[in-house]
Amino acid sequence: MLVSPSLLSADFGNLDREIDMLNRSNADMIHLDVMDGVFVPNISFGFPVIEAVARKSEKPLDVHLMIVNPQNYINQMRDAGATIMNIHQEACIHLDRTIDAIKNAGMKAAVTLNPSTPVAMLEDVIANLDMVLLMSVNPGFGGQKFITNTIKKTIQLKELISRSGSKALIEVDGGVNNITGKSLAKAGADILVAGSYVFNSDNPAHTIDLLKSL
Ligand code: DX5
Ligand code: ZN
Repeated sequence: MLVSPSLLSADFGNLDREIDMLNRSNADMIHLDVMDGVFVPNISFGFPVIEAVARKSEKPLDVHLMIVNPQNYINQMRDAGATIMNIHQEACIHLDRTIDAIKNAGMKAAVTLNPSTPVAMLEDVIANLDMVLLMSVNPGFGGQKFITNTIKKTIQLKELISRSGSKALIEVDGGVNNITGKSLAKAGADILVAGSYVFNSDNPAHTIDLLKSL
């Protein structure tokens, strides 16, 4: 199992220390949640923070854009240091064109689905995707309860990926802990995002190892 700790639950007054901890941990990447107050009812951080994290991080940056018009920020996202650019299906009208543009800019392309968006919405782009992010909470906040319907969606997505010959990895985000993570592992998830479960634990590096062992 790959693990992408979500920085949203980190101590932003001590980002340097938090990134050091992640660099020394077995985390596979760092998940960065960008919120614009329009697509989701919350505002988090933008390019200056991503750039600062990129300078310090030894791990790939998995950037989850909860913003409208993500197609307007592709080159800026690449220049800021993003490895994976995750855009919401619900926020992007020309998804096929935007996926191509993300890849042409040199990043990995991922599409995120809200809990209410069916997996079938990705049928015609799945072959061109590096990753799909399934939201297991309604996006906007850390620390919410896992929506169990995500297990069914993970199984459906796994089927779609094998049917289409896609190499896309399945990432799941929201309410992930040792219990929900175990069910997701069984259902076929490749990458677990975890914010509060990692950063609110006594030993975040150890919690990352625990999730990796699921
Ligand atoms: C929610 C974000 C998540 C969030 C997850 O909109 O996309 O990445 O940080 O937080 P937890 O793991 O606490 O549910
Ligand atoms: Zn996220």
